[in-house]
Amino acid sequence: MSNQTRGGTRRSLLSRHMGTLMFLAGLIGMLIFGWVFFPPMLYTSTEQPLQFNHKIHMDEGGMECADCHPFRADGTFASLPTLQQCAECHEEPIGDSEAEKAFIDEYVTPGKEVNWYVYSRQPMNAYFSHIAHVKTGGFSCEECHGDHGNSESIPPYQTNIISGYSRAVGGQAMAGREVLPTEVMRMDTCSDCHIKHGRRTPCLECHK
Ligand code: HEC
Ligand code: HEC
Ligand code: HEC
Ligand code: HEC
Ligand code: HEC
Repeated sequence: MSNQTRGGTRRSLLSRHMGTLMFLAGLIGMLIFGWVFFPPMLYTSTEQPLQFNHKIHMDEGGMECADCHPFRADGTFASLPTLQQCAECHEEPIGDSEAEKAFIDEYVTPGKEVNWYVYSRQPMNAYFSHIAHVKTGGFSCEECHGDHGNSESIPPYQTNIISGYSRAVGGQAMAGREVLPTEVMRMDTCSDCHIKHGRRTPCLECHK
């Protein structure tokens, strides 16, 4: 009789601990899921239509950033170069790389624009002006874009499947990893720098 009772107590103790163990196993499972598997699931990846090598143009082409990314006379930023600007040099092959030949065959000869994805593209409701930062603020391109201007290849473009924004805008701080200011261009990135430079941050300065 007493044996049975003890056995029962043992069983119920075990089943109570079982519950805790199950809970912990579940919790750890969810944390791993949340930290490791969930962030990548939030994004879809699209390859850029064409690979682009900035470095080869800076080094062998002897070009400057403003040759392809100039300001117009009215101060607005001219954004990305058009096919016509590329064709000024690539009407005929300059070197003998496969990459250049493919670019000429697929784009230059048929006169087809390259529809690049812009990693740092802001949502419609956010206002950003290059001239205020580059000319008036005196910031270098690297300050916000990191080493992109000297890169030899470009990564896939990633979109947040919920917001539809570029990953560089939606941010990637979810895994708890430190995010470099040059990896992202989120509201925090903008505001942190504005505060550092003694600017007030009224909502309507950036949201028009
Ligand atoms: C030969 C023309 C050319 C030159 C010179 C050039 N770029 Fe670009 N740049 C491009 C093209 C084409 C793209 C679009 C493909 C890509 O993302 O790299 C681009 C994209 C970029 C982007 C990506 C913006 C985004 O968020 O998607 C940055 C930043 C950039 N260039 C900075 C620079 C800087 C800084 C320099 C000078 C060190 C420079 N570029 C020189 C042609 C050029
Ligand atoms: C001022 C002249 C000039 C302009 C403008 C220019 N390029 Fe080039 N491009 C070069 C030179 C020089 C090379 C190196 C050629 C070589 O040695 O193979 C090159 C190489 C390339 C290659 C081959 C890269 C590789 O990895 O082998 C591609 C693709 C290319 N350019 C695309 C573009 C595109 C797209 C644009 C317009 C956004 C552009 N270029 C504008 C001069 C130019
Ligand atoms: C203060 C931060 C900052 C600095 C400095 C800066 N950029 Fe940008 N850049 C941005 C942001 C933010 C965007 C996205 C703009 C948008 O979507 O309205 C962008 C977009 C771009 C693009 C994509 C084309 C487009 O449609 O606007 C290129 C190319 C680019 N920048 C090149 C440059 C170059 C070259 C320099 C240096 C002369 C530079 N940037 C300096 C923040 C910066
Ligand atoms: C690296 C620091 C830095 C970053 C990053 C930055 N800003 Fe600024 N911003 C400044 C400074 C400094 C000024 C004041 C420039 C001046 O007038 O001297 C300024 C000015 C402005 C202005 C007022 C000028 C105008 O055109 O009306 C707006 C709007 C603005 N920033 C929006 C943004 C947005 C949006 C972002 C993020 C996408 C951003 N900034 C990121 C430093 C920064
Ligand atoms: C220095 C510039 C700046 C200031 C000041 C600023 N924002 Fe933003 N905000 C941005 C940028 C850039 C984005 C888009 C990038 C992102 O989602 O982080 C954004 C995104 C947002 C979003 C998300 C919108 C969406 O489409 O998902 C909200 C909400 C928002 N801001 C509210 C505010 C409010 C409220 C204030 C004032 C207390 C404010 N912001 C001040 C730059 C700014």
